[in-house]
Amino acid sequence: MLSSLICVDDVEEKALSLMSKATRDYYQIGSDTEATLRRNLDAFRNLLIRPRCLRNVSEIHISQSFSIGNVNYEIPCPVGIAPSAFHRLAHDEGEIATVKAAGKAKTIMILSSLSTVSMEDVARESGDAHLWFQLYIYRDRNLNRRLVERAFKSGYKAVVLTIDAPPFGRRRELGRHPFKLPPHLQLANFESDEFKITRTPAGASGVRQFADNLFDESINWKDLKWLVETSPLPVVVKGVMRGDDAVRAVESGAAGVIVSNHGGRQLDFAPSTVEVLPEVMAAVSGRVPVFVDGGVRSGNDVFKALALGAQMVFVGRPVLWGLTVGGSEGVSHVLDILKSELEYTMKLSGHTSIEEVQQSKNLVVPSSYFLSKL
Ligand code: FNR
Ligand code: LAC
Repeated sequence: MLSSLICVDDVEEKALSLMSKATRDYYQIGSDTEATLRRNLDAFRNLLIRPRCLRNVSEIHISQSFSIGNVNYEIPCPVGIAPSAFHRLAHDEGEIATVKAAGKAKTIMILSSLSTVSMEDVARESGDAHLWFQLYIYRDRNLNRRLVERAFKSGYKAVVLTIDAPPFGRRRELGRHPFKLPPHLQLANFESDEFKITRTPAGASGVRQFADNLFDESINWKDLKWLVETSPLPVVVKGVMRGDDAVRAVESGAAGVIVSNHGGRQLDFAPSTVEVLPEVMAAVSGRVPVFVDGGVRSGNDVFKALALGAQMVFVGRPVLWGLTVGGSEGVSHVLDILKSELEYTMKLSGHTSIEEVQQSKNLVVPSSYFLSKL
C-alpha cells in the first residue's frame, strides 16, 4: 500500500481519508483565517530554482554537519521531525513509531512536551535518532526544571524552547468543537498532580485547557536567559520570525534558531517561514545553525530552504500523515520520499553537495525575478 503513495501529497490524501473528523481538524487546522497556513505552502511554490547544466552529478552527497553547543551532528539527509503533540492519535504506537523512523534515518526528532508516550520511553527506543526535547515555559518554574532535568538524564541532546505560543492560537473549528484527547490517551510527560489540571470536569482533557492552565503569558527574554543558565542542555529557540529577534536569541545564549510560525497555528498573517529565512540568516550571520519548518512537502521545498541558508528543515504534519497511513513504516516512507526527491532536485539542478547549494548565489529566486527584468 505504501508504495502506491509516491509523494507527500498522496500520503496526506490517504491519511485524511483514514482519520476521524476530530483528529483531522486538530492536525490540519491553522489559526483564524488560515492565511499563514496557506502562505507557508504558497511561498515555497512561488520560488524558482535556476538550474546549472553539464556538471557531472553521478555522485552526490546530501549529508549535513553542524554543531549545537558542543555536540557535533552529521545527518545523512537534512530533514528532521518537528515537535507535534499526541502521536498516539495517529497510530497506537505513537511517538515510539516516530522515533523508530527517526532512528532509521539517523535524524533529529524533537519530542513535543505534549507527547502521548513519556520522554523516557521514547528515549529507550531511539536507536540512532538524535533526540531534542521541546519545552513551553510553564508558570511553575519547577515544572520546567524537572522536565529539562529528565530530558538530560534520559539522553536528549538539546532543549527546544517554543516561544511563539504565550497563549494558544485561536483555531476556529476547534472553538466550535473543542478538541478532547480520548480518555485512553495521556499527556505522558506530566505526573499525576500536573496531569489533573489537564482534565475537564467531564473527565476529558484538551490541549486548550492544558495551555490555559499551564502556559505563562509573561514569557520574555529573561526566561530564555534563565533557561540557558540553568539547563544542562543547549537551548534551541523555536518560533523566531525576525532578524532582530534572532540576534537577541543568539545574544541570550541560544545554541540554534528554528524559524517557525508553528505551522500557521499561532499568529495569523505572520509571514511564511521561507520568506523570512534570508533576513534571519543575514542577522545570525553564521553564529549558530539556523533551521526552518512550515510547509515543507517535497524535496524541492527542502532544496529551496537549504539554498536560502537553512542547515536543515523540520516537518510537522507530513510525519503525522505518515504515522496515520503506516505507523513507523509510514513515517519512514515520508522521510524516504523527501530524501529521494531532494536527490533528484540536486542532480537535475546540477549540484553535488549541500555546501555547494548553500554557497550558490541567486540559485533560488522569487517567481517575479525574470519578468521583472523586462
Ligand atoms: C504542532 N507544532 C508544535 N510545536 C511545538 O513546539 N510543540 C508542539 O507540541 C506542537 N504541536 C503541534 C501539533 C500539530 C498537530 C501540528 C500540526 C503542529 C508545530 C510544529 O512543531 C511545526 O512548527 C509545524 O507543524 C511545521 O509546519 P508543517 O510542517 O506542519 O507545515
Ligand atoms: C498545537 C500545539 C500542541 O499546535 O503546539 O496544537
